[in-house]
Amino acid sequence: MAEMTHFYELFKPEHYDLKININRTKKLITGTSTITGNATQAKVAVHQKFMTIEAVKVADQEVPFELNDDADAIWIDLPKSGDVTMTITYSAPLTDTMMGIYPSYYELNGEKQEIIGTQFEAAAARQAFPCIDEPEAKATFDLAIKYDEKPGETILANMPENRFEDGYHYFDTTMRMSTYLIAFAFGDLQSKQTETKSGVKIGVFTTKAHAMNELDFPLDIAKRAIEFFEDFYQTPYPLPHSWQLALPDFSAGAMENWGLVTYRESYLLFDPDNASMSTKQHVATTVTHELAHQWFGDLVTMKWWDDLWLNESFANMMEYVAVDALEPTWHAWETFQTLEVPRALQRDATDGVQSVHVHVENPAEIAAIFDSAIVYAKGSRMLVMVRSLIGDDALRKGLKNYFAKHHYGNATGADLWQALEDVSGQKIGSIMDSWLEQPGYPVVTAAVVDGQLTLSQKQFFIGEGKDEGRLWQIPLQGNYEETPTIMNEATIQLGDYQTLRQNNSKAFRLNVGNNSHFIVKYDDTLMADLLSEVDSYDAISQLQIIQDMRLLAEGRQISFAEVLPLLRRFANSQSAIVISGLYRLANDLQQFVSADSTEEKNLQTFFGELSAEQVERLGFANRASDTADDLVIRPEVLKAALYAQNKAALAGVHELFVANQANLAALPAEVRALVLTNEVKNFGNAELFDQLLTTYAKSSDASFKADIQVALTSTTDEQFIGQIIVALENADIIKPQDLRAWVPALLNNDASQQATWDWLQSDWSWLEKTVGGGMGFTTYVNAVGQAFKTQARLVEYQQFFGPKINTPGLTREILMDKKVIEAQVDLIESEKAAVNTAVAKEL
Ligand code: BES
Ligand code: ZN
Repeated sequence: MAEMTHFYELFKPEHYDLKININRTKKLITGTSTITGNATQAKVAVHQKFMTIEAVKVADQEVPFELNDDADAIWIDLPKSGDVTMTITYSAPLTDTMMGIYPSYYELNGEKQEIIGTQFEAAAARQAFPCIDEPEAKATFDLAIKYDEKPGETILANMPENRFEDGYHYFDTTMRMSTYLIAFAFGDLQSKQTETKSGVKIGVFTTKAHAMNELDFPLDIAKRAIEFFEDFYQTPYPLPHSWQLALPDFSAGAMENWGLVTYRESYLLFDPDNASMSTKQHVATTVTHELAHQWFGDLVTMKWWDDLWLNESFANMMEYVAVDALEPTWHAWETFQTLEVPRALQRDATDGVQSVHVHVENPAEIAAIFDSAIVYAKGSRMLVMVRSLIGDDALRKGLKNYFAKHHYGNATGADLWQALEDVSGQKIGSIMDSWLEQPGYPVVTAAVVDGQLTLSQKQFFIGEGKDEGRLWQIPLQGNYEETPTIMNEATIQLGDYQTLRQNNSKAFRLNVGNNSHFIVKYDDTLMADLLSEVDSYDAISQLQIIQDMRLLAEGRQISFAEVLPLLRRFANSQSAIVISGLYRLANDLQQFVSADSTEEKNLQTFFGELSAEQVERLGFANRASDTADDLVIRPEVLKAALYAQNKAALAGVHELFVANQANLAALPAEVRALVLTNEVKNFGNAELFDQLLTTYAKSSDASFKADIQVALTSTTDEQFIGQIIVALENADIIKPQDLRAWVPALLNNDASQQATWDWLQSDWSWLEKTVGGGMGFTTYVNAVGQAFKTQARLVEYQQFFGPKINTPGLTREILMDKKVIEAQVDLIESEKAAVNTAVAKEL
């Protein structure tokens, strides 16, 4: 495609006067957008989408204009180039797409209610008002809003309200900012508010369907996060307030609008009397992520979307930096190792994946690069790598300078590297280029070759991959002094192994701390040495060994059969992350056995043995003596025991259900999903199913709802499955925003896969229309890719998605998931026998 012109090149806005009138009953938006700026030529383009343009005026005179809907544009003929003010009068429909200005629905006292909110990133401000909708086109905004207002309603925006006149709420002029960060909302809201040490007002706002105590935790974490970032960045928060608003319908998870951050309810609110550790951590990392953006993203913004990673990778790292500082006992960096690291290592191993820094032009492509595995997980890993190279002091100094230089403006990756090079004296830019501009990552083989300890790097693939001879500048993080800091070459020798081993008197290791983005393949000698010490390693190192071996097995570099003995070795670990890594691997083995086979029986027995001691140690219900890790380990090992059909576990978990039948929400949050799943799978009947689905539809407790969803999608009952499929398109039961959880879960359940796949194919265009506008539509292709593991399914996948290959924003995903399925089919066919023999040998 030819290079598309950015509208900013033709017109540079300085200031907007926006008057927007929203009528909820008529589902209509009308308004005027008055833009002052500089035109580089007389013919300019302004963004609009789904709008009817009534008139464009310059100095009270109508000027000619023309719509080009394919380019989301109005082309305007100005009298001349130079400084100009134009006023565009428009109208647009208010639709349920969760993009632009949109209604969110909820129930209060049995009645359907709505609040209005906005979602403009990446390219939907143009659905709310005509504008130059590009991140570089920063301007100041005067916003005025009128709506069919009822007494008691609240309206919020980026800035405080300063007057109410002629039915319009007027807000203070914003700082210079990008259009995608403008936000406002109104409706029947409640809030809790406080203030930071420096006097910034902090608030949490929700619909009245929530109990007030749900607002306490997010309010506290938001306050402390703003205080933390003001200190960490050595740069004050520049606005008078920081509002956090939970919206009942939300396409992404949360959005960093400057001064008015919006959240999916499950990302902000929970019942403080019954919340799991992971729910609390999720809310904390979400709030810190969005508040990290208030500087990194909002105050300084990427110049264009190709540098999206600058926003998202950075915020993704800062979540952990901040939560680790605010809640040190949570061990946030351990969570990073189970949530982000495997996600990055898995996806980045598929050939065809994009690099972190990636060329993009059109809006659908932009939406598709918000890829949690690459721009978020891999990108944050890149920055963690930089942080461990230069240290926190240099990072903070560099950032302070970066904000001072680029505030209220835009920057590129090179600007950040420059700021960090200036303070650290290290050539960060060239090291990072090798990671950000190239897709994929290396496996480093460590081997004793002719007596020499030898390291070599080669791109790691899961599935078929074309080796293009890529090399990375790898921060090796070796535990022998003789290991260089950075490895640029394909192969290096560290010296005579026997001498090295003697001098260092410990097993040789690379990537200590697992902060560099590569995996290690040790030869048999080195591995045996390492395993002889492994019990004394910290949890991250143990998890790393399990994780790297799993990946090597998936990449067919070693056999799964070789990895099996590791499982027993760590089965009784009391570290939550080691146990999660272990069961991730163990659960992978389930793909090698077919239902009701001897092999499955053996695997079940193996799971029973793996989990037995821990189940004995922890029991079925929470205990006062539980450590934070125990709370995470219990559901993991109970799940294994249930898979093993352990009679005591089945009965014990069922008992928990019976004891809480009258109020299922009160089941301890950590084991709630497990208890409900056990019930649906092993004691399911029509009555239970109806009870759960109705509770699901009615509840405003997002974590409880998520647990019910997990349980319901585990059913094997054909009739229930049919009922769920129908509910997928009934927003009164399953909201479109939640399809991204339901659909993958249904595809992953053998019993519901066919029905779900049939539905997905026949109603694809409904799905596209309903949730295709925002972030994450690729999820639906990806979910099919993850779930399909047979040759027959591969053919069906190709038949359906092959013809869609040119859909903007889906091309890469369709190609990659074909490779994912091929790799799964190949892995199962070639490893099945060996795995099953190895399992039998373990018993
Ligand atoms: N800026 C994004 C949200 C976004 C992405 C909106 C793409 C529209 C298109 C926000 O900062 C974000 O990253 N949200 C995450 C949650 C976060 C806690 C990682 C999300 O929505 O998943
Ligand atoms: Zn973000």
